Amino acid sequence: MTTQSQVSVQPKPTSPKVIPNVGGLPIIGNTLEMAKDPAAFFVRCYRDYGPVYRVNVFGQKRIVIAGPEAGKFMNSKAARLGLRSKEFWQDFVDHHGASKTLTGIDGEQHQKMRAIMRDGFSRGAMAGRYHELTDIIDISLERDWNDGEVPVVEAFQYMIVQLLGEVMTGNAPLEYVRDIRVNILYILNVLVTKQWPGFMIHMPEFKRASARVDELGQQMVDEFFTHAEAGTLPKNLLGDVMRGHLDDPDLIQKRDLKLVLTGPYVAGLDTVANSLAAAVYGILKTPGVLEKVQAEADALFAKDIVTERDVLGLNYIQNCLKEAMRLWPIAVAQMRTTNHDLEFEGFVVPKDETIFIGTSVPHFMEEYFPDPMKFDPDRADRREHLQPGAYAPFGRGTHSCLGQSLAEVLMGICIARLFHRLNISLESTEYVLKTKTAPTPGPAMSFKIKVDGERNPATSLRAEILGEAA
Ligand code: HEM
Repeated sequence: MTTQSQVSVQPKPTSPKVIPNVGGLPIIGNTLEMAKDPAAFFVRCYRDYGPVYRVNVFGQKRIVIAGPEAGKFMNSKAARLGLRSKEFWQDFVDHHGASKTLTGIDGEQHQKMRAIMRDGFSRGAMAGRYHELTDIIDISLERDWNDGEVPVVEAFQYMIVQLLGEVMTGNAPLEYVRDIRVNILYILNVLVTKQWPGFMIHMPEFKRASARVDELGQQMVDEFFTHAEAGTLPKNLLGDVMRGHLDDPDLIQKRDLKLVLTGPYVAGLDTVANSLAAAVYGILKTPGVLEKVQAEADALFAKDIVTERDVLGLNYIQNCLKEAMRLWPIAVAQMRTTNHDLEFEGFVVPKDETIFIGTSVPHFMEEYFPDPMKFDPDRADRREHLQPGAYAPFGRGTHSCLGQSLAEVLMGICIARLFHRLNISLESTEYVLKTKTAPTPGPAMSFKIKVDGERNPATSLRAEILGEAA
């Protein structure tokens, strides 16, 4: 197998094109435009400068490769061998005294670690458990979605922690939700994307939250060592990680365990909550959509057993989710460092350059998605999302989302149950979604909906007996 160190330098084009600089303000360059709406900024620059350009954001000059060209490139061998993720995650890893994290390693180690975690992060982890998930959603609706106004992102965050906790760890650490959120906010802004200055890592708010998440991780580690000694490691993500550690203590080291075990919350909390909130907005705002969602949700819960196939078969709801992730992608760009001089579209991106890869740019291009700003669930049936390089809400290439299949069924059942159980509406028909960019782009925390009473009561489903035909 070829390793990164053996990769020969790519032949440079005879006279590479000059990478254009995006014009901006003195000193701060493009920071304001980027901070306001990163997706729109990358699209505007792609239109004005083409698929490669240099921006000046947050005090750093960065090369951006963007558009469908970049989307296709990310799935290529040249990208697999020519790009690495280490630098973006190193401060985060160091901060936790760990040796590595899945997102920050590449090559053979990365493949091994992904293989250990694949099952636990897949939708298979939910098989036979849709009755439990529905009960958890009902508990969450009862607790956080009462008559009156509901802050949508926050309410979904609590729902997701409970769902992920039960499925992946057998435990739902609700009392840690706020700490996990604060932790993600600082980690992504200060240690990963570096949009906030380094001294903010010493803020008491972060120190407190970080200590609490550390405490949660330690509890999980202790619990799983006890299981390992008793020979009762469960078949879930945490069991798999612990087995991975015992089998190869150099790969998943003891000092990595806390990070790995709390990882699902960092990876899943904001991403899923933001995408769900965006879908709720699209469904409520767009004429004619709500009724179709309700009809599909009601048909699902007319059954007394719900299976994975049923949730994947929620065609219209899954189409709404696809549209939500197109219009409000949580990862506007991916961040990487070049292993060697990299040839792309006639340009040469120099070795050891940290770059943005704007894979979400085509989401907003008329050429791929006619009338691109329109929330139109029927696009998916017209296969617009399937055009090469056009649609990448879960990223592309070696680090693409390991939790994608799990996220899809999780979000499907959440939306179906919400719209089956409750009558909800926007604050007013004129309401236009406000968005945030940090730590993860998506609907603002201030986005609220009104709950106008119950549509259907909370009737529990029956357990699916796995292996029996549905
Ligand atoms: C709507 C929901 C989600 C979206 C849009 C999403 C998006 C993404 C994206 C764009 C990446 C790639 C980042 C990069 O290349 O730098 C990623 C990676 C990842 N995601 Fe997700 N994600 C979602 C939900 C989840 C969930 C629920 C989990 C698990 C609980 C999860 C686990 C992961 C993991 C482990 C990685 C790292 C993979 C690697 O580095 O090899 N994600 N996700």
